[in-house]
Order: sequence, then C-alpha cells, then structure tokens
Amino acid sequence: MQPASRHLLAIQGLHPRQITALLDLAESYALLNRSGKTQRDRLRGRTLINLFFEDSTRTRTSFELAGKRLGADVINMSVATSSVNKGETLLDTAATLNAMHCDLLVVRHDQSGAPALLAQKVDAAVINAGDGTHEHPTQALLDALTIRRHRGELAGLVVAICGDVAHSRVARSNILLLVAMGCSVRVVGPPTLIPGAITALGVSVHHDMRAGLAGADIVMMLRLQRERMTRGLVPSAREYFRFFGLDRDKLAYAKPDALVMHPGPMNRGVEIASDVADDPVRSLIREQVEMGVAVRMAVLDALSRGGGL
Ligand code: NCD
Repeated sequence: MQPASRHLLAIQGLHPRQITALLDLAESYALLNRSGKTQRDRLRGRTLINLFFEDSTRTRTSFELAGKRLGADVINMSVATSSVNKGETLLDTAATLNAMHCDLLVVRHDQSGAPALLAQKVDAAVINAGDGTHEHPTQALLDALTIRRHRGELAGLVVAICGDVAHSRVARSNILLLVAMGCSVRVVGPPTLIPGAITALGVSVHHDMRAGLAGADIVMMLRLQRERMTRGLVPSAREYFRFFGLDRDKLAYAKPDALVMHPGPMNRGVEIASDVADDPVRSLIREQVEMGVAVRMAVLDALSRGGGL
C-alpha cells in the first residue's frame, strides 16, 4: 500500500484498496444526491479554489457543485481574466493562492505534471482535474463507479477503450485504474492514435473495431482531440467515423448487453453516432456526469479529513 497522500494527482500509485474506499464513499454520496439532501457541515469553513487553465464544462461545474453540497466556500478562478495573462508564472500564482490559505486546490492545466509541481509549493490539498495528456484521476473514478453500479464488480470485465488514446489523459487514468482492479482492457484505434508503448500498461492493442469490440462488456469512446494534434493524424472526420465511429453495426460486435460510455464533450457523428449516444438502455453517458459529482464529493471529503487518501 502506498503511503497516504494528501493530494490526488494520479491513479498511478493508488492501491486497489484506496480506489475501492473512494468508490464506496462516492456511492454513498450518489445516494445522498439522489435523495436531494446535502451535507453542508462536512466542509463548512473550508475554501476550495477551482484553477482551470484549460476549457472545461462538466469537470469544473461538478467540482463546484461537489464543494457547495459539502458546504465549502468555492471560488472559480477564471484564468482568462487572471494575472496569468500578464505573464505571471505558475509558481507565482501558486504563492499568491497559498497566501490566501485555501484548503483545496483543483487544477486543470495543458502541461502534464503542472498539478504535481503546484502540490510541492502550496499547503492546500491539490486535486488534478486533468493535466495535458498525463492523467485525469477523478474521471477514471467516476467511470469506475458508473460501471460498478451496473455490473456489480469490476474484476473480470472486458473493457474496450476506443479512439484517440494517444492524446487522452482519460484513457491513461482509466487503463491504470481498470487494470489495477482486475479488468481486461483493450485499446482500439488507428495506429496513428495508439502509442506503441501503451502495452506496458497491461492492455492489448487492436486496430480493427470488430476484433477490439468482440465480447466486450463496456465500450468506452474517446473524443478526437484535434487541439492536441500537431499534425494530421486522421483523414477526414467522415472516414474516421466509417472505420472507428461507434454506430449500431459496430456495437453489435460487443456483448449483446454491452454498455456505452463517453467522458464528454462528444463529437457526434465523428467518434459516436447520436442514436447510440442517446440510447436510454445502452448509454451511460448521462449517469457518468451524475456520478462525477458524487466522486468529487468523495475526493474532497477524503482529502479534507487530514489523513490523506
Ligand atoms: C475530458 C478531458 O478534458 O480530459 N473531458 C472531461 O473531463 N470529461 C476529455 C476530452 O476533453 O475529450
């Protein structure tokens, strides 16, 4: 077991017992959220700062909601209007935030490792909300919680993670978590979007959707992250959809009751067809968003207890 960490910077290094404890706590918050109740005394008097250097809709909003449901004072720092635009370095921003005595700092940054660097410089507990192509630990936790609610147990499931694996911190965190919990994980996509070294994480690689999806319990689609591509790695969106976009025909290769996931934001008609994304039985995409709030409540709660994760 790793020593208890006072930050959540990555899935890498977490023990399956720590993951299970977080998922169990998140499950109790999922039930609380559905009941419409809150627990505003848990983080009363604590301050949470959302520091997002990259675009976000669901992650930032769900950390904000999670903090508020637990009673924290939540401040959203919009980097677009901050002194970062005046040339302030990341470490000077950290020193400024530190002087304000915030307790929890949620960071999203386009550079891999930025939250870990901040964690060395601030007294607050730092939570990585996505750093470059490195990790997005709360996304993997919310995906695992969503799967667990439908399949009971993670161990033994076959999970196909499909699309732009090369640029995806969601894929990395999910692979690390699902492999640690005993899933059989495959990555599926064109050779240009699957890094060769990925097999070191314990996954199998497929370049054909039929073979990659055969017998899968869970089909997790990824967004084509064009903003991170420095050169043309895919032909046209139309051609990409033809070979790697999830439609009814390709979903039929998976198990008859296979469930579909996507971290959002979705590019409909590029990596996923609308009728599959909106299928009320097969698609878990809305529930993923719901579980995101519960998982972030669990992480904020666990880190604010002082004992670490
Ligand atoms: C993802 C991200 O930002 O890493 N979005 C999210 O947090 N749900 C995935 C993406 O941008 O495609």
